[in-house]
Amino acid sequence: MHITIRIPATSANLGPGFDSLGLALDLWNETIFTLAIEYSVQVHGEGRERISAGENNLIIRSAQRLAELVGKRLPPFHVDCVNRIPLSSGLGSSAAAKLTGLLGANALLGKPLSKTEILDLATELEGHPDNVAPALLGGLVASMVQDGKVLAHRIHLEDNHDAPIHITVVLPDFHLSTQQARAALPEQVTLKDAVHNISRSVLVTEAFRTGNLELLSKAMTDTLHQPYRLWLIPGGREAMDAAKESGASAAAISGAGPSIIAFSAKREEAIGEAMTRAFEGAGHSARTFHLKLSHHGAEAQIR
Ligand code: HSE
Repeated sequence: MHITIRIPATSANLGPGFDSLGLALDLWNETIFTLAIEYSVQVHGEGRERISAGENNLIIRSAQRLAELVGKRLPPFHVDCVNRIPLSSGLGSSAAAKLTGLLGANALLGKPLSKTEILDLATELEGHPDNVAPALLGGLVASMVQDGKVLAHRIHLEDNHDAPIHITVVLPDFHLSTQQARAALPEQVTLKDAVHNISRSVLVTEAFRTGNLELLSKAMTDTLHQPYRLWLIPGGREAMDAAKESGASAAAISGAGPSIIAFSAKREEAIGEAMTRAFEGAGHSARTFHLKLSHHGAEAQIR
C-alpha cells in the first residue's frame, strides 16, 4: 500500500491578520508513505541536509501523536519526501510536515479522525492555525481558536481567472525560526494598534475576495508583529519598500519571515529583482519564487 500526501505552501498573517489569516500557494511538498520494518525517511529537494531522518522527524512525530490520541498502534513506515517548500522560510514548511504526518497516519489507521479533528490537532502541534488551515483547506482562510477547537472559514473568492493576483516571494539566505520571531513580540499592545489591525484585516480579506489590489495596497499594513520582527530580517524593510516601488501593490512579511511576499496585478520580474537587491544590500543573497494562490488544499491518495 502507498499513501501519497500533497501539502501546499502557505503564507500566514497577510500583513494585519496575525495568527488568523492565511493563503495557500501553488508550491507543493509530496510525500509517499509505505509500510516498512522500521521508521525511515528519505528527503529530496528543500531541506535534505537539515531534516532529521530519525524518529524525531516531524512527520514521524506528528504521525505518532495522532496514533497516541486515537489509541491505536502505528505500524512503522518509510516516507519518501519531495520537498519544494523551503525550511524556516515563512512559507509553512513545518505546518506541511505536521499535516503530512497527521494525514499519513490517519490514512494508515483507517481514518479515525475527521478533517476538522485533524485541523484541531495540527493547530495544537503548530500553536496557531493560520498555516495549517489554508494548507488543509486551500485558498484564503480566516481562522479562530476557541477552547482548543479551530473554526476555519474558507473565504469564497470571486472568479478572477482573467486577472489572478500574482505573488512574488523573496527568501533571503538565512533562517529565522518561528520561535525566535515570536519571542520578539510584545506581551501587550495598545488599543490604537489593535484597531489598526482589526480594521485592516477585514479590508485585506475583502481585497482578496474581490481581487481589488488598490484596496490591498491601502489595507496591507500591520502594527502587531512586523515592526517588532523587521529588525530580525536584515534588508526586510528595504525589500518591502523596493517591492512597492517596482510595481507591487502590497508587501508583507510572509508568516514569521524571513521571506517577504509581494502582490501584483501581473508577473513582474522587476519586483523580485528589486527585492533581491534590497537583501543583497544588507549582505544576503536571496531566492525568488513566482507563485499563484492555490484553490486546493492538502490531498491524500491511497493506492
Ligand atoms: N502567525 C504565525 C506567526 C505564523 O506570525 O508567528 C508563523 O508561520
